[in-house]
Order: sequence, then C-alpha cells, then structure tokens
Amino acid sequence: MKKLLRVLAGEKFETPPIWMMRQAGRYLPEYRQVREQAGSFLNLCANPVLAAEVTLQPIRRFGFDAAILFSDILVVPQALGRSLRFEEGKGPLMEPLAAADIAALAAAEALACLAPVFETVERVKAELPSETALIGFCGAPWTVATYMIAGHATPDQAPARLFAYRQPQEFAALMDLLADISADYLIKQLEAGADCVQIFDSWAGVLDAQSFELACIAPVRRMIGKIRARFPQAPIIAFPRGAGALYRDYAAKTRATAIGLDWTVPLDFAAQLQQQTPIQGNLDPMRLLAGGEALRQGVAAIMQSLQNRPFIFNLGHGITPETPIENVEIMLKLVRSGEYA
Ligand code: CP3
Repeated sequence: MKKLLRVLAGEKFETPPIWMMRQAGRYLPEYRQVREQAGSFLNLCANPVLAAEVTLQPIRRFGFDAAILFSDILVVPQALGRSLRFEEGKGPLMEPLAAADIAALAAAEALACLAPVFETVERVKAELPSETALIGFCGAPWTVATYMIAGHATPDQAPARLFAYRQPQEFAALMDLLADISADYLIKQLEAGADCVQIFDSWAGVLDAQSFELACIAPVRRMIGKIRARFPQAPIIAFPRGAGALYRDYAAKTRATAIGLDWTVPLDFAAQLQQQTPIQGNLDPMRLLAGGEALRQGVAAIMQSLQNRPFIFNLGHGITPETPIENVEIMLKLVRSGEYA
C-alpha cells in the first residue's frame, strides 16, 4: 500500500510521507508556463489535460508521496450557478449571495458541470507512479460559504458571520446544501480514482465555539457520514485551519481519518491529539520561504514531536509564490534523510 495511505490506516514511519498544500502553483516555472498557455487560472481548472499536467509537475520534480488534484474549492459554487472570476492580486471575486438566492442554487445540475474535474482525476491516476497517492479535495461548507456571501476575500469573514447570526435558518439551509453537494462531489472523485480526500476549512479560525459547532463541525460530520455510507473505508483528511483549542472537539466529533494542523498549533498539543488520530502538518510556510536555520529548526521540532505516531509531513498552509524551489528541495532532504538535528 502507498505510504500516505498506510499512515491514514494508522501506521507510523521513521521517515513520514510528505506533500505540500498548493504544491502545484506559481512558485514553479513549469506551472506558470502551462497557466499562460491555458489563458487563465479557471481555464486551467476546466481543462483536464492541462490540469492533470500541473498536478503531476511537483511529483516529477520532487517525488512527493502524494499528488493533489489541481482545481479550486470555488468551482463548486460556480457549478451551483454563482459567478466566479479571479483578478490578479485580488483573489476570487463572486457576486455576493443573499438569503433569497439560496433557493435558486442549481444543486441538481452541479455535478454534471464538474465533469472536467473527474476527468482530471482519471488522467492523473493513469499516470502517477504506483507509490504516489492521489488526493482529491473540496472546500468545507463554511469556507465555501464565506466566499459566496462576501463575494471577495476579507480578513475576518465578517459578512458570513453576520449572515449566520441574522439569518440562522437560511444559513443552516445553505450549510446542508453545501454539505450534500460537496459529499457527492468527493464521492465522484473517489469513484474516478482518488485514493483519499481532503476537506479544506481555511476559515474555521474566525468563529466562536457555538458557531464553530454549527458551521464547521456539524456540516463536515454530515459530509463524512454521507461519504462513508458509499465508501466505508474512505480516508478523509480534514483541515480546519486556525481551530486552536477547538481542534480536539473537531477531531472527536467529525471522525475524520486524519486532522491537518496549521502552524500555530503547539507541538505538545499536536502530539496529544495524535494519540487519537493521525496528524498532518504543520510547518510555517514562512519558514520554508526563509530557508536556512529557520527551516531546519522548524523541521526538527516537528519531526521530534510527531514522528513517533502516525504522521504526514506538510506545511501549515499553502506554499507562497515567492518561495525558492531550492528551499523545497532542502525541506525534502531534511525530512527524508533525518539529518535535521
Ligand atoms: O496544489 C494544490 O494544493 C492543489 C490546488 C489547489 C488550489 N486551490 C489551486 C490554486 C487547492 C487545494 C486550492 C484550495 C483553495 N482555494 C482553498 C483552500 C486552501 C487555502 O489555501 O486556504 C481556498 C481558500 C481557495 C480559494 C482561492 N483560490 C483563493 C483565495 C485564491 C487566491 C489566492 C492566491 O493564491 O492567488 C485562489 C487561487 C488559486 N488556487 C491559485 C492556485 C494555484 C493561484 C491562481 C493562479 O495561478 O493565479
């Protein structure tokens, strides 16, 4: 079995499997070239041949233990009929969703619009080395809803939090709708050949404990229940970025196979959580960008704390476009040689 899947099944390794969030992206010249050929980021997501190519690029260059499907979490609301575009330097732009728009979301047709994604999964699967796992993904309902409601990036997701407080019934209906469509979407990725899936809840960290239960834990638990009804053994990694002290409750209640940790989680807390569940994480992407001693010390601390139980080495969030490729090579060498001390 592939190393990453063995960790998700509860095994530990002295040299953990390693991959990086956003490993296919702008820090790679070969990615920039294909993106230019595609014309835009969204064209690239919708083109299975080119999307498969950029998914495979970091595997060829670095030999990571897993490939992650190249797409975006916002193709799901787009398939539901919401407008989406990306502007350089501004990130995603959508038409803000009002409560009255929820009934018109086109759940019945959405999966058909996402057919290119499933074709990308099939193409990558056919070309991946046998030891490399293929990770499918989607955004968690809360994080997807934050972009749908605000229509653009915000520092604290105030518009979505207000929506949840002012219109709790409509918000609950939106969470249920997104949970069901996202679960079906991940089931289709698993059917197309994904070995496991990751649920990105990048904005889990802006909620109080009551809202976290309603907006992060409950919808993801619902998704996982639905996926496991179809694939009882499906390995599911959940990444509620910024969940802090609520990580423990999240792990226990969602029953994800493994939990992704952001870099602010203290390693002694992480090691405790690891007694319940395999852990993935959590190097600060700025240590990777900085390189040198900052990188070595970060890798060393993580390895020393988390190597003794089921563990997947990753960053605590995505690699940034300015990161030198050489630093990625150094990180891989440190983790795989064990010579970080
Ligand atoms: O390599 C991989 O990790 C797979 C591909 C992937 C992308 N986005 C490609 C991408 C994955 C897993 C995502 C997830 C995603 N998308 C998340 C959750 C993870 C996270 O980073 O918090 C979120 C919140 C989004 C929404 C999104 N997409 C934003 C906010 C942005 C703009 C920020 C930026 O980096 O420009 C994107 C664009 C995006 N998604 C890019 C890539 C490679 C950059 C687009 C480009 O090429 O210009």
